[in-house]
Amino acid sequence: MTVDSLQEHFDDKVKREVTIEPRDWMPDDYRKTLLRQISQHAHSEIVGMLPEGNWITRAPNLRRKAVLLAKVQDEAGHGLYLYSAAETLGSSRDEMMEQLHSGKAKYSSIFNYPSLTWADMGAIGWLVDGAAIMNQVPLCRASYGPYARAMVRVCKEESFHQRQGFEIMLTLSNGTEVQKKLAQDALNRWWWPSIMMFGPPDDNSPNTEQSMRWRIKRISNDELRQRFIDVTVEQAKILGLTPPDKDLKWNEATGHYDFGAINWDEFWNVVKGNGPCNKERLEARKKAWEEGEWVREAALAYSKKRSERNNKISAKAA
Ligand code: 3HC
Repeated sequence: MTVDSLQEHFDDKVKREVTIEPRDWMPDDYRKTLLRQISQHAHSEIVGMLPEGNWITRAPNLRRKAVLLAKVQDEAGHGLYLYSAAETLGSSRDEMMEQLHSGKAKYSSIFNYPSLTWADMGAIGWLVDGAAIMNQVPLCRASYGPYARAMVRVCKEESFHQRQGFEIMLTLSNGTEVQKKLAQDALNRWWWPSIMMFGPPDDNSPNTEQSMRWRIKRISNDELRQRFIDVTVEQAKILGLTPPDKDLKWNEATGHYDFGAINWDEFWNVVKGNGPCNKERLEARKKAWEEGEWVREAALAYSKKRSERNNKISAKAA
């Protein structure tokens, strides 16, 4: 088949909502975009474990500790599904790790903010995982099969993450004055970085148009952001908390909340590596990778031994 007919066949499959699988022909740029997005998504999951991991030993009681532990472990699992999905596109785990550790690869800006109090565990679950769900549900219908299937599993676990966060915020906002203040302070610090998670405005997003043509991205950054704000403002009312945006106002005509100007200078500054915790996060990831070398070596040695033993057994049986 000529490249033109391969391209035609690919375009026709995407148009007919037939998922593209690892062994299918795909345009190089499609592969590159998927590798970029899926590996950065995986990095986000792994780096995202750090702000919450910081509070496991300081959870207020055993139940909260167990729930937070389960959530952080889930994030590690999400990272592994996504690295595996990225590997089907021809990149190795080591290459992706090198890109993360060298600062070449991005991960979600949100994880470069510090988790200062226990209430941050509530705000992260409620807002960050809430935003992640808003962004990840459409990805369950991404045109690339391994990515879409990984997302189905991830989204099931994200809803537990969001609910446990909301429950922490509800407990605090219904608690003492000090606890309510803690919850409001966490909302004040996590509100704007959470709405930045959806990426730059559509008119400043170099990847959105092509990603939507390839049915990787199903809904644009701005539309997902708006949906998230519309839902979350109502949830804040149930908590009796006020998002830190004086321009937030229901617009009867559009049926959405109008909201204030987002500080895109802050966003790009954090994306470029100058956020409050970028350095600390990368240091922690590099340290974990170095300290985990013996585990990887042991697992590889074990799997090599196992396959030698299995080969011997099948040679005997033949
Ligand atoms: N943080 C860091 N970089 C970001 C970003 C963010 N929040 N939003 C956008 N960017 C980067 C993009 O990666 C792109 O840079 P690149 O071309 O060098 O990769 C640039 O800014 C322009 O953005 P675009 O909108 O053009 O890029 P995309 O079309 O890729 O859209 C995205 C950005 C919406 C984040 C998209 O990549 C996406 O949907 N990714 C998958 C979901 C994801 O990664 N979520 C991150 C959070 S995961 C999480 O929260 C885990 C949860 O369990 C806690």
